[in-house]
Amino acid sequence: MLRYIPTHELTTDNYKLMTENSHMKLAGKVAVVTGTSPNIGGGIATGLAEEGAKLVCVDIRADYAERCAESIRQRSGDAIGVTCDVTDDTQVCEMVRQAGEAFGGIDILVNNAVIFNQKGVLDMPLDEWNDQIAVILTGAFLCTKRVSNLMIERGTRGSIINIISTAGHQGQPGNVGYCTGKSGLLNFTRSVAMELAPHGIRVNSLTPTATDPGEAADIAKAWGVDRGERGSSGPGEHFLRGVPMGKLPRPSHYARAAAFLASDDAEMITGMDLRVDAGAVARYWAWTP
Ligand SMILES: NC(=O)c1ccc[n+]([C@@H]2O[C@H](COP(=O)([O-])OP(=O)(O)OC[C@H]3O[C@@H](n4cnc5c(N)ncnc54)[C@H](O)[C@@H]3O)[C@@H](O)[C@H]2O)c1
Repeated sequence: MLRYIPTHELTTDNYKLMTENSHMKLAGKVAVVTGTSPNIGGGIATGLAEEGAKLVCVDIRADYAERCAESIRQRSGDAIGVTCDVTDDTQVCEMVRQAGEAFGGIDILVNNAVIFNQKGVLDMPLDEWNDQIAVILTGAFLCTKRVSNLMIERGTRGSIINIISTAGHQGQPGNVGYCTGKSGLLNFTRSVAMELAPHGIRVNSLTPTATDPGEAADIAKAWGVDRGERGSSGPGEHFLRGVPMGKLPRPSHYARAAAFLASDDAEMITGMDLRVDAGAVARYWAWTP
């Protein structure tokens, strides 16, 4: 496992180790990840830290923000937790201020926060629709707006990654707010990618699918947190039957793809969606693997 060494811990020996590990993709970068639950957001934050990034772990739940940052620090990374509602502009501005104060700027933003609410158009109450769309779209809008302004101010050639879902590419019945929000986020990605290209800021999306629950359970146990309802239900058997590769991705698979998109390896990639879905979206509709 690659190990990020904070400056204050540098000795001759670990400096040698660090320079030997200079192939770390994100050494010296600062990343903000929103929605750092012990599942996909926490997995992505951990994966970016393992590639050398300093992390700002953001969640409306203080325990998820703090425990994610703490677990990165325990693995010799550098991280702070910030409790923030991404739908509230004042809180987002304060989060960006704290990130700048702690680490001097922001190079990477991952818009990952979400609320799930599996209801269809016939039974979705207006206030619940508004809340779900607000987290998925307004949250990404506000974080992108405030972070990219800081990037431009500081001349940072940054990378922004929006987390979609296979449900943003396909019509899932009874999940109208989620499907609509996620497909909106896909084209938000392209529009903002065009707007920010002249500033050298790349904007891409990453599409996960139904996710193997094993890693999330391990992370929650290690953090000592209870995932409540989200922890007790994994994806059903039918998800596994429909996935061409015969197994579901884990958060660490998404983390590696996010690290690639955030890194200089992807320097000419913008406005693109990277699907890490074991072939789910490419599957011919009438074929059952
Ligand atoms: N779990 C899956 O199988 C799956 C599949 C495809 C896509 N995704 C996408 O991956 C991402 C993460 O999913 P997950 O399963 O890890 O979700 P999760 O519910 O475990 O985590 C989402 C986090 O967002 C936080 N959050 C909610 N509202 C917020 C707000 N207003 N401000 C700040 N934080 C807020 C929650 O507290 C939570 O910690 C989401 O974008 C989701 O759409 C998940």
